[in-house]
Amino acid sequence: MKEFVFRLYTKVLYGEGVAKRLGAECKQLNARKVFFVTDSFMVEHSAAFPMLIDSIKNAGLEVKVFSEVEPDPSIVTIDGVAAKMKEFGADVAVAFGGGSPMDTAKLACMLQSNAGSVCDYMRKTRNIDNPAVPVICIPTTAGTGSEVTSFGVVTDSDAGEKIGVAHDSMMPKLAIIDPALQLSMPPSLTAATGMDALCHAIEAFVSTDAELLSDAMCLHAIRLIGENIRKAVADGRDVETRGKMALASLAAGVGFAQAGLGAVHGIAHCLGAMYHVPHGVANALMLPYVMSFNVMASMEKFREIAIALGENVTGLSLRDAAYRSVAAVKLLNEDLGIPQTLKEVGVKESDFSSIIKNTMTYGRLPFNPRTVTEKDVENILTTAMG
Ligand SMILES: NC(=O)c1ccc[n+]([C@@H]2O[C@H](COP(=O)([O-])OP(=O)(O)OC[C@H]3O[C@@H](n4cnc5c(N)ncnc54)[C@H](O)[C@@H]3O)[C@@H](O)[C@H]2O)c1
Ligand SMILES: [Fe+2]
Repeated sequence: MKEFVFRLYTKVLYGEGVAKRLGAECKQLNARKVFFVTDSFMVEHSAAFPMLIDSIKNAGLEVKVFSEVEPDPSIVTIDGVAAKMKEFGADVAVAFGGGSPMDTAKLACMLQSNAGSVCDYMRKTRNIDNPAVPVICIPTTAGTGSEVTSFGVVTDSDAGEKIGVAHDSMMPKLAIIDPALQLSMPPSLTAATGMDALCHAIEAFVSTDAELLSDAMCLHAIRLIGENIRKAVADGRDVETRGKMALASLAAGVGFAQAGLGAVHGIAHCLGAMYHVPHGVANALMLPYVMSFNVMASMEKFREIAIALGENVTGLSLRDAAYRSVAAVKLLNEDLGIPQTLKEVGVKESDFSSIIKNTMTYGRLPFNPRTVTEKDVENILTTAMG
């Protein structure tokens, strides 16, 4: 029997319009000074931004905004946010945006009570000894699941690496899932972030560390994404569809926080750090190639993925049914306009050795269902070049 620890920390507030309760929720956490982390796009274009700030102020709390988080936040950005947050004396942080503002806020909260730079924790030259300051996450993309995971990803472009820093206390205290805030996502962002969530669910479902509770979360996420992602991309104005994608992303987040990821994220992190391929696009592109490599390690589970994605596998052999999952993901990528080959996103064969080296050191590679060697990564990359 597999023994496991399942973490259940984050309160989830779900529904259209629930974000207006932000101020009251901050108060419930005994906050006085709220540090608000977002990006410039959200400040300039989101009608929700002034509403959220007013909600905090109307609850009688002081608020300071940092709005310069870039996609794939760097060490410099995260350290800078942490310093500003310390100077302000915040007792709660609110993250509003996609995975980048959420990860930045979570890491800055950790640095309030732990000395040094985020780089020290990324390189493991320091341990996280003290609990992080509480964080509330309000996701505006449906992809990363960062609102329910205990880690943040830091990008070191010079080293060509993206590395996660984790601690139980970095798990957000509250996730406010208001699908109305996700209506503004353009089709390409909806597709890329939705495929990131699918990738989390699939990698965690076939992970060597999967268990029955994480399986339930992942399978539900795969089904919800299979049923809703095309609709969400085709008509981003439907709040019910957005809500289902938001919950799928959250469920996939719970699943992978528990069971880990695999070679797709290992390779995708290199593509993000080296070529700035958006995280979701990098994952979506690599997903069918890595699934195809992994199928034989867990045919029953890949068959279940095919079924969850709506494939009719009646009468097929186990092997054929399992491979249907790969075909379904390929078709999904095609329909969503995701690049199909590494060439299309500018990857050069001369960079293969760096990609292989960094993939092999990816902390979650051991959870990949099939053992991965350097030669395997090279073969996967060569096939994916097209
Ligand atoms: N901590 C985790 O559990 C976890 C998991 C997966 C990925 N990540 C990290 O998250 C980051 C990616 O996050 P992301 O994919 O959510 O994107 P993002 O936060 O990097 O945002 C990408 C772009 O989308 C825009 N955007 C966000 N919401 C929008 C909306 N509603 N309407 C219009 N535009 C909007 C942003 O302004 C930005 O320009 C990567 O750094 C990745 O490594 C973290
Ligand atoms: Fe991801």
